[in-house]
Amino acid sequence: MPAVSFQNVSKNYATPRGELQALKGVSFDIQAGEFFGLLGPNGAGKTTLISILAGLSRASGGHVRVHGHDVVSDFAAARRQLGVVPQELVFDPFFNVRETLRIQSGYFGIKGNDAWIDELLEGLGLADKAGANMRQLSGGMKRRVLVAQALVHKPPVIVLDEPTAGVDVELRQTLWQFVSQLNKTQGSTVLLTTHYLEEAEALCGRIAMLKKGEVVALEKTSDLLSRASSNVLRFKTDHNLPADLAAVARVTGRVVQLPAHNAAEVERILARVREAGVAVDDIEIRKADLEDVFLDVMSGASATTAPMAPMPPTEEVAP
Ligand SMILES: Nc1ncnc2c1ncn2[C@@H]1O[C@H](COP(=O)(O)OP(=O)(O)OP(=O)(O)O)[C@@H](O)[C@H]1O
Ligand SMILES: [Mg+2]
Repeated sequence: MPAVSFQNVSKNYATPRGELQALKGVSFDIQAGEFFGLLGPNGAGKTTLISILAGLSRASGGHVRVHGHDVVSDFAAARRQLGVVPQELVFDPFFNVRETLRIQSGYFGIKGNDAWIDELLEGLGLADKAGANMRQLSGGMKRRVLVAQALVHKPPVIVLDEPTAGVDVELRQTLWQFVSQLNKTQGSTVLLTTHYLEEAEALCGRIAMLKKGEVVALEKTSDLLSRASSNVLRFKTDHNLPADLAAVARVTGRVVQLPAHNAAEVERILARVREAGVAVDDIEIRKADLEDVFLDVMSGASATTAPMAPMPPTEEVAP
C-alpha cells in the first residue's frame, strides 16, 4: 500500500475572473520510505496539493489517501499519519517553544512527550531557545519550530512545503541531516517541495514536476538527470551570440550556458563563437544538473515533453 496516493485530484478556485483550475487531475503514488520531491514554478499547484493532503482544503475531484486512509472520509486517521510543515509561518505568539510543542503533542493525545521534544529541540538546533517566546524568535528560528511541531507525534509521513525558504545555510544543513536520518533510520516517508533544485537533486530519490496543475514529469532523480544533455558549456561575454546559439542558450547577465553532449560539440560551439567574433572568457564545462532538466521540462510546450504520471487504466479491448 502506498504511503500517499493522489488519484485524479483536481481543484478549482472561484476567482473574480472566473474559475481557476489549480489542479487538473493529478495522479501519483509515494511509497513508504521514499524521499520524494515535488517541484514546479510559483503557482504550479504544489501548496494546493499539500493543503488537500493535510485536510486544510477540499479537492474539487479525486481522492487522496495516506496509508489507505482517505483524507476526507477518514480524516483523523489520515492526519495522524502526517507531519506537515506549512509554507506560511503560522504560530501562536503567546507561548514559548517548549509550550508550543507540548500543546501540539496534546492535539494528538500524547502526554509526557518531553524526551522526544528534547530530541527535536537538540536535532533542530533549538535547545537554547526552549524557553524563548515565539514572538522573540527570528524567521529562521520560527521555521525550525514549525518543523519540530510537525514531528511531535512521530508521524510516518513528513510533508515539507518549502521548509528552507529564507533559511540560512547552517539550518538547511541541520534540517536535512535531521530529516534524512528520520528517513533512513525510521523509514519515514518524506514529501518535499523546494525551489532549491540542488537540494532536491541531493535528497530526493524520485521527483514529480508540476506545471499549471499538471504532472509533466515523474521519474527517478537519476533518470531525470540522465535525460539532460550530459554537459553544459559555460562562459562569459559582453557580445550577442549568433542566432543559432542564442536559440538554445541560457543567458543570465554576462553568463551564457549551452548544452554540449561531448567534446566535439564543445569545439563546434567555440568555433561558432570565434567565427562570429564574440569574445568570451571564464570558459568552463560542467555536468548538467537538475536545474537544466527543470528548465527543459518547464519550457516544453505541453506535458508530452516528458513521461507522464501513471495514466488512468485503459479499457481492455477484446481481440
Ligand atoms: N485560496 C485561493 N483562492 C484562489 N486561488 C488560489 C488560492 N490558493 C491558491 N490559488 C491559486 O492556485 C494556483 C496554485 O497555487 P499554489 O499556492 O498551490 O502554488 P505553488 O505551486 O505552491 O506556488 P509557490 O511555489 O509560489 O509556493 C495559483 O494560481 C494560485 O494563485
Ligand atoms: Mg507553495
